[in-house]
Amino acid sequence: MGVEENSVIENIKTRRSVMEYTDREVSDEDIKTIIDAGIHAPSGFNSQPWFFVVVKNREMMKRMSDHCKPRLLAMLEEATNDAAVEFKKKLEKEEFHIFYDAPVLIIVLGNNADVAVDYDCALCAENMMLAAHSMGIGSCWVGTGCFIQDNPEILEELGITPDYRVIAPIVFGYPVKEPEEPPKKEPEIVWVY
Ligand SMILES: Cc1cc2nc3c(=O)[nH]c(=O)nc-3n(C[C@H](O)[C@H](O)[C@H](O)COP(=O)(O)O)c2cc1C
Repeated sequence: MGVEENSVIENIKTRRSVMEYTDREVSDEDIKTIIDAGIHAPSGFNSQPWFFVVVKNREMMKRMSDHCKPRLLAMLEEATNDAAVEFKKKLEKEEFHIFYDAPVLIIVLGNNADVAVDYDCALCAENMMLAAHSMGIGSCWVGTGCFIQDNPEILEELGITPDYRVIAPIVFGYPVKEPEEPPKKEPEIVWVY
């Protein structure tokens, strides 16, 4: 089989970060399928240090967005990088919702006691986004959502204990349209024969 007909590679290459969602709900069955794909990721010493919070409450997501926005804006105050400056302009708009008003947010949390927790959870997150894409469901990892970590009330409402850290807040939903592929750099490779 040539690479062109390989559906796994095709799925990897066509996944996009979706920033516009329809109102269509993602079923709990589909959410379980997505999380199940996540937990099949590799992890250091097979520690599987993840824990998931599924948020389908739009009021809660709006509150989280309002909490996180000013924190990222403050962090980007001195930013000069083009992408960061563009994102800052979006953030400054009153109506901008960091979770894009998506129907569901799944937060991947990692157990702080685990040495490779960031790598493990990132692999889990990518599995989830790829699984969703193969099911026609779009996603976007919203790193900005990590700022909820400094809000004890939100953490309590979400059932997040101090043992766990927010690593990958990811929104899921049906895309309004497939985003175009952003430029991808050619890989720099050193070949050693
Ligand atoms: C760690 C991480 C954090 C990210 N945080 C955000 C974010 O806060 N908001 C956002 O809109 N996109 C966020 N993204 C999505 C990236 O902007 C996106 O992956 C990148 O532009 C490449 O586009 P693609 O995913 O369609 O290939 C994040 C992605 C990663 C991996």
